[in-house]
Amino acid sequence: MVTKKERTEKKPWDPQFKRRVYVRNRSSLSHVEKPYLDLLDHYKLKYLDEPDRSFLSPRPLLVEIGFGNGRILSEFARRYPDWNCLGVDVYKPGIAQLIKQCEQLKLKNVRILMNEGHTVLEQMPNRSIDKLWVFFPDPWPKTKHHKRRLVTPEFVDLVSYKVRGNRYINLATDADDYALEIHRAFMDHGLFWGGKSRRLKGLPISKYERRGQRLKHNMHYFEFTRLDVEIARPQNPSVGNQIQSEPICPVALLPPPPTPK
Ligand SMILES: C[S@@+](CC[C@H](N)C(=O)[O-])C[C@H]1O[C@@H](n2cnc3c(N)ncnc32)[C@H](O)[C@@H]1O
Repeated sequence: MVTKKERTEKKPWDPQFKRRVYVRNRSSLSHVEKPYLDLLDHYKLKYLDEPDRSFLSPRPLLVEIGFGNGRILSEFARRYPDWNCLGVDVYKPGIAQLIKQCEQLKLKNVRILMNEGHTVLEQMPNRSIDKLWVFFPDPWPKTKHHKRRLVTPEFVDLVSYKVRGNRYINLATDADDYALEIHRAFMDHGLFWGGKSRRLKGLPISKYERRGQRLKHNMHYFEFTRLDVEIARPQNPSVGNQIQSEPICPVALLPPPPTPK
């Protein structure tokens, strides 16, 4: 039998690979949160390979990874019922909070996945996301923990396949060195343009944004656009991962196929 440790040590393209997830300590639920988490099945995105099928009707798709208490996602969903919204997080109390807001606001356009962000993106169809948000991802300030950070060049590469062309990716952090890493990862990739931006207008201030403000941290907001260029990568993530280290090649730049003799 393969142990958990052995699975996390395998490479991402190995079917037995399990990505290590680092979750905050409080995973127990309060008596108020518990009944909401019990409704998770109702909000769960059932068809990850066909996200449209899991909503009432096909609409543009917003994905937020690491939504925390879900305040921003639920407010967006309330204001824009013509969007489908998918929240991805691993923190049970936060998921219960988001479900509570969905129930109170009677939102029909929110789906939730209690899963790790990379893993979810890997399983989604290429070019299926119209908006991607990552706000105040865990900063992991100690250098020895930087490898736990969510936004890495590998993550940005994955995003380049999953977000449609000319669509926006918004991120924020209050960790100066993480901001540099995020900026570099997107700019070095080659399929994104953009950079530092203003805060997205009209959205509530998130819990961690407020914390950063209280601690008088610098706030870094980013907006990148995925260029509208086709890229050659198989849909199958297990195959895709194996070629991750190869340079990205826009289809337009691929050599023409050999002419038949
Ligand atoms: C620092 S909190 C920020 C929450 C919220 N975005 C905010 O601004 O208040 C980071 C969130 O990301 C979630 N998270 C951390 N790593 C994750 C991963 N690999 N996949 C999905 N969610 C993750 C955590 O559970 C937590 O809810």
